[in-house]
Amino acid sequence: MKNDRWKQYYDLTKNKPPSKLLVKALPYIEKKGKALDLGAGAFVDSKFLLAQGFNVTAVDSSPTSLELSEEIRDPNFSFIPSAYDTFDFELKEYDLITAQWALPFNTQKTFRTMFESLKSSLKPGGIFAGQFFGWNDQWNTGERDMTFHSKEEALHLLSEMKIISFDEEEGNRKTANGEMKHWHVFHIIAQRPLKKRF
Ligand SMILES: C[S@@+](CC[C@H](N)C(=O)[O-])C[C@H]1O[C@@H](n2cnc3c(N)ncnc32)[C@H](O)[C@@H]1O
Repeated sequence: MKNDRWKQYYDLTKNKPPSKLLVKALPYIEKKGKALDLGAGAFVDSKFLLAQGFNVTAVDSSPTSLELSEEIRDPNFSFIPSAYDTFDFELKEYDLITAQWALPFNTQKTFRTMFESLKSSLKPGGIFAGQFFGWNDQWNTGERDMTFHSKEEALHLLSEMKIISFDEEEGNRKTANGEMKHWHVFHIIAQRPLKKRF
């Protein structure tokens, strides 16, 4: 697929181990039932979850990701080509929603609505694991149509959730393609409460 900005990233990441945050979240998941992998990329985490026994729905807007999805022939796997903010989040559907290095690429205009829908799509007791980017991130220049949060904003978005871990990372390290970058990231694992709060 030509002209897909993500193709190089997939070539560089397709053989990497599953995301650390996802592995950390696994023991908190009550049932290895339905998982949603948002921004699934080269499907490293989707394949890991299939091997763990989950039924996996993967979502990504990249045409290369769509092409790669056709190579996964597992009855417990489905792929939906969609942007996060136009995805039809069904209510109380998933035991796990993982979005590794993915949600900050959603435009700020729809981030809040999209994230509210994402939370509603967790079953009570279901787990969200993913990252938000902080204001000090090097990509927060106004030139990219991405979303960055202060710590307070990030915590506010999670206010009805039970926070299992919320780790702030700030510092310089390389991107997948080897460029040095200043990262400001909130690594989040949170659970939808069993009792009705939203
Ligand atoms: C940095 S990659 C992360 C991929 C994978 N989760 C991983 O950890 O390797 C971000 C992914 O999000 C997808 N993406 C970016 N913006 C998106 C959007 N608005 N809706 C759906 N997918 C999007 C890209 O196509 C890409 O596959």
